[in-house]
Amino acid sequence: MGNRTFTIIKPDAFGKKYTGKIIDRILESGFEILGARMIHMNQNDARGFYAVHQEKPFFNDLIEFMTSGPCLVMVIAHENAVESFRKFIGSTNPADAAEGTIRRDFAESVQNNAIHGSDSDINAEKEIAFFFTPNQIHGT
Ligand code: CMP
Repeated sequence: MGNRTFTIIKPDAFGKKYTGKIIDRILESGFEILGARMIHMNQNDARGFYAVHQEKPFFNDLIEFMTSGPCLVMVIAHENAVESFRKFIGSTNPADAAEGTIRRDFAESVQNNAIHGSDSDINAEKEIAFFFTPNQIHGT
């Protein structure tokens, strides 16, 4: 089990000024932030980051959404980070997200779902490396 995961506060939540509230909840829930950067993804960033979904019917809309405004990318530390953080953010579709989760409270739809969390340790490390160099991450 890895102790790092990767997250994005997506353009919907960022645009609605939820970033501070979400960061408070992340820290209050015992996660540590090892790195953070505000970015505005271009087409290359978004297509590269979501390459695994390129055959999905929602891919083009997803790219349009993720390039529509700024977002905050972060490296998060916690024991069993991937699973703990996914539980914390809730199901992909906010309609299915448990009470008290970030998506339940801040997401609009299955696409505009406020926040991303890596789905495996391997993907967490790939996603961290996609947006961060080691010298941008505390403790590395
Ligand atoms: P995320 O966890 O970042 O991973 C892939 C993203 O694609 C997901 O969050 C949503 O933003 C989006 N997504 C996943 N499933 C669907 C769907 N059925 N329709 C539209 N967008 C989706």
